[in-house]
Amino acid sequence: MRRRTTDPAFDATQVSPWNDGIEGLAYGGDYNPEQWPLDVQLEDIELMREAGVNLLSVAIFSWATIEPREGELDWTWLDATLDRLHGAGIRVALATATASPPPWLTRKHPEILPRLADGTVLHQGGRQAYAVTHPLHRDYALTMAARVAERYQDHPALALWHVDNEIGCHVPRDYSDAAAAAFREWLAVRYTTVDALNAAWGTAFWSQRYGSFDDVLPPLSAPTFANPTQQLDFDRFSSDALLDYYRDLRDTLRAITPHVPTTTNLMASTSTKGMDYFSWAPELDVVANDHYTNAADPERHVELSFSADLTRGIAGGAPWVLMEHSTAAVNWQPRNRTKQPGELLRNSLSHVARGADAVMFFQWRASQAGAEKFHSGMVPHAGTDSQLWRDVVGLGQALRALGEVRGSRVRSRAALVVDWPAWWGAELDSHPTQELRYMDQVRAWYRELWRLGVTADVVPPTAALDAYDLVVVPTLYLVTDEGAANVAAAAERGATVVITYFSGIVDEHDHVRLGGYPGAFRDLLGVRTEEFFPLLADEQVHVSGALGGFAADLWTEKSSVAPGVEVLAVYDDGPLPGGPALTRRAVPGGGSAWYVATRLAPEGVEAVARAAATEAGVLPGLSARPGVELVRRRSDDGTRSWLFAINHTDEPAHVEAAGFELLTATTVDALKVPAGGVRVVREA
Ligand code: GAL
Repeated sequence: MRRRTTDPAFDATQVSPWNDGIEGLAYGGDYNPEQWPLDVQLEDIELMREAGVNLLSVAIFSWATIEPREGELDWTWLDATLDRLHGAGIRVALATATASPPPWLTRKHPEILPRLADGTVLHQGGRQAYAVTHPLHRDYALTMAARVAERYQDHPALALWHVDNEIGCHVPRDYSDAAAAAFREWLAVRYTTVDALNAAWGTAFWSQRYGSFDDVLPPLSAPTFANPTQQLDFDRFSSDALLDYYRDLRDTLRAITPHVPTTTNLMASTSTKGMDYFSWAPELDVVANDHYTNAADPERHVELSFSADLTRGIAGGAPWVLMEHSTAAVNWQPRNRTKQPGELLRNSLSHVARGADAVMFFQWRASQAGAEKFHSGMVPHAGTDSQLWRDVVGLGQALRALGEVRGSRVRSRAALVVDWPAWWGAELDSHPTQELRYMDQVRAWYRELWRLGVTADVVPPTAALDAYDLVVVPTLYLVTDEGAANVAAAAERGATVVITYFSGIVDEHDHVRLGGYPGAFRDLLGVRTEEFFPLLADEQVHVSGALGGFAADLWTEKSSVAPGVEVLAVYDDGPLPGGPALTRRAVPGGGSAWYVATRLAPEGVEAVARAAATEAGVLPGLSARPGVELVRRRSDDGTRSWLFAINHTDEPAHVEAAGFELLTATTVDALKVPAGGVRVVREA
């Protein structure tokens, strides 16, 4: 893999803010004018003005339009587009046009196509058919990005660079020969000697010892379980390789326009496992995220909140860009149901409440042809005489009314600790149970915090935890010594720390921490587990104690507790009757460390979350009905705050809040939020 080209001397202070020239919050979406005749493009400008659009992502998938045949470049349409947008006062996030290589390139150089673990080649005809590590593809992509940057470096519409698109979306893991070569280079940098690799991978097992880095391959389809550390390192490598591609493109742009900020659209959510975005964040001038709700999920607004809180965590608390979401239906779920009345506004403003300073969509105008023609846009197939268009115009008005929140931040006192290597590790094969899903556990705890009205920052294990009184650590299977010490320090400083089963089990090489589970957290929790007792399919146990009685499944373990550790619940039945299922250790220094040794049903998670949040003093004082999302943003100097109240229920809700309500422009001393509606109060 190419080494970074980043100039360590690059002066980041010369980079302009991404929203220079935009008043208040940004509003817009992906704009693909190349799909439309000129009269439609001219109408677009009028409609954009009507909706209040001020930022668009342009030329994301335009490589083949700009360069239909190798070396033949047609910029006329893009010149005209940028000029027109500038004329209308619209800023542009200009893409590198590299998101999908043109057909001539993959036909001429099929060696740049990516491969699956079983050798299947992924061909052209869809999108993103490139091996991200292939040197030839890299050269072509960098050349394209440089051409775009050279042509438009002085264009007044240019606000920010949009590098490629959702890097790793379709091909998070590539097993091509180029990837294998890059993996070997990455390993040589990580381990220096092949003996160090052998030690880390535990290759004394199954005759796997390597005599040379040249013998190492990606974890291709094999007769049985591939070496778990090899799999884990391939996950790390793949995330790094995708980031390296971003970095190379960014540095190409920076060399031409050092003052223009650069980003790429992440996909932070409960389903994007491939990329360790916490490690990507330092490379982005502003964090941008794409998020799509799952129509089949009745609690999709909670998953949306998680995605937004995770994005804020990736951004280190700074405001971020919602680069894509949908106005209505998407085209890629099994059943693509549109949004309910008011859901568009609720979704958009939930992102804003949680730190977004931009609300953007895929895409401006719903396509007439191609695989995404049934994906919603801001302008629907039905045209402007439609509820959707009226909602899009209404959203633009709402965002203008909220302009003053720009730059303000969410300040949480609760943290939910999430980690990609722990996610990769927890779901490796050959484990005590194949049923464990890392994100299920993360979601379960996030959901109950959400329902309790506790806004949580989603942060990595090594994040500064000083600001938090409650720290929830779901199933952190893999943890470094540094991460474990950081979590322990939070409890020693006075925080309430809640850790759930199958945490602290292995180090960064996936080697078991010996002496009893939960290894890295054994002392902190005062719990020692001798053996795991995963439950069989459909097997349930019952636990009871100080917080009540609850069902649990998936996981139990045979543990004992150190003197002074409280056992808050025991198993009533199952393989370990009477054994500890929930414990709490008072930590010298004022904090506490709770251990949840089984997968509690939602009522159990709710009870523990409530008890821990109460102990930590982070339950909100505000009263509201369940299903009413209350989130606060505060100005940097702490003098102003805005309370977002998003009512996901079909009854009006009353919220104790006083101040000036921005969406209705009225002074309120008690807030009534209509069924399915949103209110935002600048607090008195
Ligand atoms: C994103 C992508 C967009 C569009 C959208 C559809 O993954 O960046 O180009 O395909 O999904 O939901």
